[in-house]
Amino acid sequence: MEMDYVNDFPRNQQKTSGNLQQTERRLGQVLFLSFGLLCVIQAVLNVSLRLTLYYGKEWTNSDCNITHTSDYNQLTEVQTGGETINHCNKLQESFNALTKEKNQLQNLITIFSNQLSMALEQNKKLQKELKDKCSSTDSSGCPTDWREIGGRCYFLSSEMKTWVESRNYCQRQGADLVVINSTEEQRALYRLDGDHELLFWIGLDGRDGDFKWVDGSALTRPFWQEGQPDDGGPNTKVEDCVEMYHHNPVYANWNDAPCESTRRWMCEKAE
Ligand SMILES: *[C@@H]1O[C@H](CO)[C@@H](O)[C@H](O)[C@H]1NC(C)=O
Ligand SMILES: *[C@@H]1O[C@H](CO)[C@@H](O)[C@H](O)[C@H]1NC(C)=O
Repeated sequence: MEMDYVNDFPRNQQKTSGNLQQTERRLGQVLFLSFGLLCVIQAVLNVSLRLTLYYGKEWTNSDCNITHTSDYNQLTEVQTGGETINHCNKLQESFNALTKEKNQLQNLITIFSNQLSMALEQNKKLQKELKDKCSSTDSSGCPTDWREIGGRCYFLSSEMKTWVESRNYCQRQGADLVVINSTEEQRALYRLDGDHELLFWIGLDGRDGDFKWVDGSALTRPFWQEGQPDDGGPNTKVEDCVEMYHHNPVYANWNDAPCESTRRWMCEKAE
């Protein structure tokens, strides 16, 4: 039977990919800003070129020769020298206006250049962040199909086995059934991937009397379901192995069950 691991999409990777998306968005903004700046530079260059043409010419009377500017409809009929001077004044005015425009654009260039270098600086930082994140994701020392939670590796099976077979499986992977020895761990393992009916073996059993963890440690902080463990209660069945049933509240969802029952299981090991 093909195994279908829910471990494929660990929560922390989802978080990381959220961050990556955010980083990508910020990179996009930086690129957009750069593009905008290029447009402004283009506009400034256009104006500068026009000005350069004006600067390049000797500003003589011949520039104001009406025959040279016959394109200007309003000037074609101008005959007298006084009106020629008027035309030159107009040219001077538009020259001044362009000079002013040029200065304004140069100010804009300065502002945008500063913003661009700031954006480039940020871009560099983001790319470094991105690289660090990717490499830290890659170097999470957990095998494929295992998920990293709080610096340890967890494997949730999709198959079902008895408690002992489940433990054997984990041990063959250099791991053991999960030992839940903190509130944070109990919380982190609760309803993985939002499955409210998740039910799996944990590394706790009482076949030799008291409930003990598979690593030999004593049970100090239990999260029993209300009324449990009852060793079968009225069922007169021996219930010595412990399952975590996520239908129940986060800090009250352990139940003792017959060790021969088959369940999914969870392994845990160091990174
Ligand atoms: C104006 O242009 C015409 C034709 O190009 C030329 O004959 C004339 O001398 C010019 N006048 C001045 C003041 O430069
Ligand atoms: C919890 O259990 C794991 C697995 O046996 C062990 O490596 C870890 O040291 C334990 N942590 C505490 C705080 O007891």
